[in-house]
Amino acid sequence: MGKLEWEPAEGQAPTELEEKVLAYQKKGCLVPPRRVVLNEEQIEGIRRSGVVNTGVLDEVSKHIQAGMTTEDINQMVHEYTIAHGATPAPLNYQGFPKSVCTSINAQVCHGIPSESVRLKEGDIINVDVSTILDGYYSDASRMFIIGEASKEVKKLVKVTKECLEIGMNAAKPYGFVGDIGAAIQLHAERNGYSVVQELCGHGVGLKFHEVPEVLHFGKKGTGMLLVPGMVFTIEPMINMGSRKVFIDKSNHWTIYTQDMKPSAQWEHTFVMTEHGLEILTY
Ligand code: MF3
Ligand code: CO
Repeated sequence: MGKLEWEPAEGQAPTELEEKVLAYQKKGCLVPPRRVVLNEEQIEGIRRSGVVNTGVLDEVSKHIQAGMTTEDINQMVHEYTIAHGATPAPLNYQGFPKSVCTSINAQVCHGIPSESVRLKEGDIINVDVSTILDGYYSDASRMFIIGEASKEVKKLVKVTKECLEIGMNAAKPYGFVGDIGAAIQLHAERNGYSVVQELCGHGVGLKFHEVPEVLHFGKKGTGMLLVPGMVFTIEPMINMGSRKVFIDKSNHWTIYTQDMKPSAQWEHTFVMTEHGLEILTY
């Protein structure tokens, strides 16, 4: 049998972390590849990228209002990012044409900014910002409520934010990715909502999308082992109605709810520490 990835190099003493992960690997658990357990320097780089990413979202939150187009948001994001020495990760990513995703009401995610889409009173919009700084990626999104919205959609936005926080708190070092999804699904469904299953959170940092896949539903104790040094997003998409979605055939990007009822999403980039998750996109 070949050497397991987490076995120490020949003649070398294992670190405490290597020893722990190897024990799980020997039990047959899904463990992270070494490349996604990052060192302090790499985590610092992602943290700095996260500072710019948060700056972008703060800038959007200062100016977003009814009457503005989603292309106006795109321009704001693009210019702020460039002015801070960074690059918007979505631009040209697998052919994505803009610098940010703007997803309104029944759009679940990957809405494409447009001059012909104007924000109006009562809309809810997710602005999903991803930044590359010195080669390091960060990724976060927030919901914005335009003017006064209905009690029902305000609750959807609030419960979705709680889902992100509850998912974050469920993630423990040497726990499993499935612990996050189980906690999120429980909270969403308790409130009468459903969890989108076709899209997930992801490892991030040295690339835009990496393992692990962070499902927002499922069972505790399943999925990849969570090891200190792993950096990943949690980004639940929660629907007011059915969990079912479809993709816009005209742009092959934008995801909508099948019943055209509203959907909300919040996202942060996190690093797993010895004590639990730390947010890198505050
Ligand atoms: N920001 C999205 C995420 O959370 C990724 C969008 S891919 C893009 O993973 F090309 F649409 F930007
Ligand atoms: Co993401």
